[in-house]
Amino acid sequence: MARAGLGVKATPFTYAAHALAAVAAVLVLVWCVHFRGGLALEAPNKNLIFNVHPVLMLIGYIILGSEAIMIYKVFPNLNHDTAKLTHLILHAIATVLGAFGIYCAFKFHNDSGIANLYSLHSWLGIGTISLYGIQWVFGFVTFFFPGAAPSLRRSALPWHALFGLFVYVLAVMTAELGFLEKLTFLESGGLDKYGAEAFLVNFTALVVVLFGASVVVAAVAPAHVEEPQGYAPIPVN
Ligand code: HEM
Ligand code: HEM
Repeated sequence: MARAGLGVKATPFTYAAHALAAVAAVLVLVWCVHFRGGLALEAPNKNLIFNVHPVLMLIGYIILGSEAIMIYKVFPNLNHDTAKLTHLILHAIATVLGAFGIYCAFKFHNDSGIANLYSLHSWLGIGTISLYGIQWVFGFVTFFFPGAAPSLRRSALPWHALFGLFVYVLAVMTAELGFLEKLTFLESGGLDKYGAEAFLVNFTALVVVLFGASVVVAAVAPAHVEEPQGYAPIPVN
């Protein structure tokens, strides 16, 4: 999407995205480990199995997926084949960790006798990870192996970038709904609405929105902005 002509370079947005990703990762860990009691795959306290879900969905899926999207802008001078390979591997790891994070939410529900797939969050979540998998397979066969004809690649690329950003924004929205839903459950169970934990969760979700926005701008903005060449007289009108 290097031809969007925003007139700003992607680089500062990639810096902002990295800083916000680090903050979001620390905040979700502080929440799940310090406030919610920690992470486990097997435990008598089933809430610890749930806690793996937000951590993997944010750090494993959204943050890794964001790094995959931004790779062309973070290293604009990287050999194109290396950039493509890194892009597809990071997206593959993000998809696997995301799928495992969803499995943890199902396991928590099944082990605790809670129904599955009753919320908008869970429906959008299944839609997001499925579209992500489809996008990966289409990207792989078009741009990597066996690879489409050059003219088809050229016309598929803007659609790949557009659809990729659409699925990415859907993932960020789904995570927002997840934070809202979990905090609402906790508050219905008596958690102080103005307490430290409630602020922490809302603040994490805010950081994730700003993070998602900087990733989208970094993807849409060009890696290099053309500087005017030599002397250019100021136009009269
Ligand atoms: C893009 C990221 C995410 C995706 C794709 C996703 C997907 C899902 C799915 C498919 C379920 C259904 C599990 C079942 O029915 O057994 C679920 C459950 C749940 N998720 Fe997420 N999730 C994401 C991020 C988050 C985050 C960041 C939180 C924050 C705490 C969260 C909180 C919850 C909660 C509370 C449930 C249980 C209630 C329900 O089924 O709606 N999710 N998630
Ligand atoms: C779920 C998986 C994927 C998502 C969400 C995704 C998303 C994106 C996005 C948003 C862009 C635009 C980046 C920019 O213009 O700065 C892009 C570019 C690209 N992607 Fe993917 N992608 C995925 C998988 C793949 C796969 C498997 C391949 C196979 C090699 C691939 C190859 C490419 C190529 C060649 C570009 C163009 C880079 C350029 O501007 O030269 N993508 N992708």
